Amino acid sequence: MNLHDQDEQKLFSPEFTKNPYPAYERLREEDPVHQVRFPDGQLGWLVTRYADAEAVLKDPRFIKDFSKLFGGSMDEMSVFAQNMLFSDPPDHKRLRGLAQKAFTPKMIEGMKPRIQEITDELLDGFEGQSTVNLIDEFAFPLPIIVICEILGVPSKDRDKFRIWSNSLIEGTSGEAGVSVYEHMNEFIRYLGEWFAKVRKDPGDDLISRLIEAEEAGDRLTEKELYGLVSLLIIAGHETTVNLIGNTVLTLLKHPEQQHELCVQPELIGPAIEESLRLNGPVEFSTSRWAAEEIEYGGKTIHRGDLVIVALNAANHDPELFDHPELFDHPELFDIHREKSAHLAFGKGIHFCLGAPLARLEGQTAIDGLLKRFPEMTLAVPEDQLEWRPGMIVRGVRELPVRMG
Ligand code: HEM
Repeated sequence: MNLHDQDEQKLFSPEFTKNPYPAYERLREEDPVHQVRFPDGQLGWLVTRYADAEAVLKDPRFIKDFSKLFGGSMDEMSVFAQNMLFSDPPDHKRLRGLAQKAFTPKMIEGMKPRIQEITDELLDGFEGQSTVNLIDEFAFPLPIIVICEILGVPSKDRDKFRIWSNSLIEGTSGEAGVSVYEHMNEFIRYLGEWFAKVRKDPGDDLISRLIEAEEAGDRLTEKELYGLVSLLIIAGHETTVNLIGNTVLTLLKHPEQQHELCVQPELIGPAIEESLRLNGPVEFSTSRWAAEEIEYGGKTIHRGDLVIVALNAANHDPELFDHPELFDHPELFDIHREKSAHLAFGKGIHFCLGAPLARLEGQTAIDGLLKRFPEMTLAVPEDQLEWRPGMIVRGVRELPVRMG
């Protein structure tokens, strides 16, 4: 069955962006593999139940590289798409393998002291301030400084990265008279100049290592280097900003659990997992394409159809676990849940490369904030908060907080 036209229009409206969960509940119950026209006019399928979502993410018949279906080649695609996230095996394995070494749990563990230091410096800046916009002043700078340091690009240029990646993610430049295309070109020019500098004078950072890297005799092509570095800059901060922002907002809405976390900081791990499950930073996982005709949830998905998994819908599915009695009220925030099995970082071969880093950043940020400002409260009524448009990320644009 199809939802009524009126419901269809509501699906991507500002009210939906603010609170997509009632629509997700209806879709899960009434039409879990739902044919939909996305705001860009593209017709596709939206998958909302946990079991279907997990199955799609793991099913190799849903592919990422659409040039295989529609002609052309990876080489003709934008450099921003020449990366592991938009490729399939065997290319995917090669591209991911080259970056993987910098993101092993051991490497990330080694970054703990530096992440703590950046967090403390940012928090020092809030002393004596009554109200702080925690997105601009905290949730954004922390992950962008960290990813810049991993890559070896100057973190003083972070505001440029923010503008360019916002443009790509939201599909609008946000600046009068400037197109998304111009921002993309500026980003490419910036990276080109930086790569030239690193080639002359390599250091101990990831870009230097990538430029020198040879894995199984296989170097990254120039375009793949642009693709990987831009993916890491964008994925490395856009999502974590919203993990920090969404977690702070959720805690401020649940002061009793905020207080519990202050007195029992060892609950920070489960609290971050619960925040990822309840209000994950990635709204829809990036697209996949059916490589052949596939029957799913009683629907026939044709070769070449676009399929999108609504991660936050799946993470609110009461059937999330084999034993639903363990998982009462998925719509509620509960840092004491016995289990967590969310899809906020995806599943299968494209499972988030940066998950250990994102978890560490999220835990350090929230723990540090609660230790220094345990009495913080939201400085504006919740319904005044503006949610970021677009289908990719879920998070508020600004988060004004009274520091207590
Ligand atoms: C992939 C979520 C942070 C790098 C993904 C995917 C999701 C995701 C859902 C899979 C997309 C798909 O299957 O189509 C998140 C969330 C984050 C986060 C919720 C923060 C809370 C990061 C960070 C980095 C990163 C900090 C890097 C520094 C990547 C990369 C991929 C990816 C490179 C592509 C993996 C592949 O295709 O094999 N992420 N991410 N992410 N993420 Fe993250």
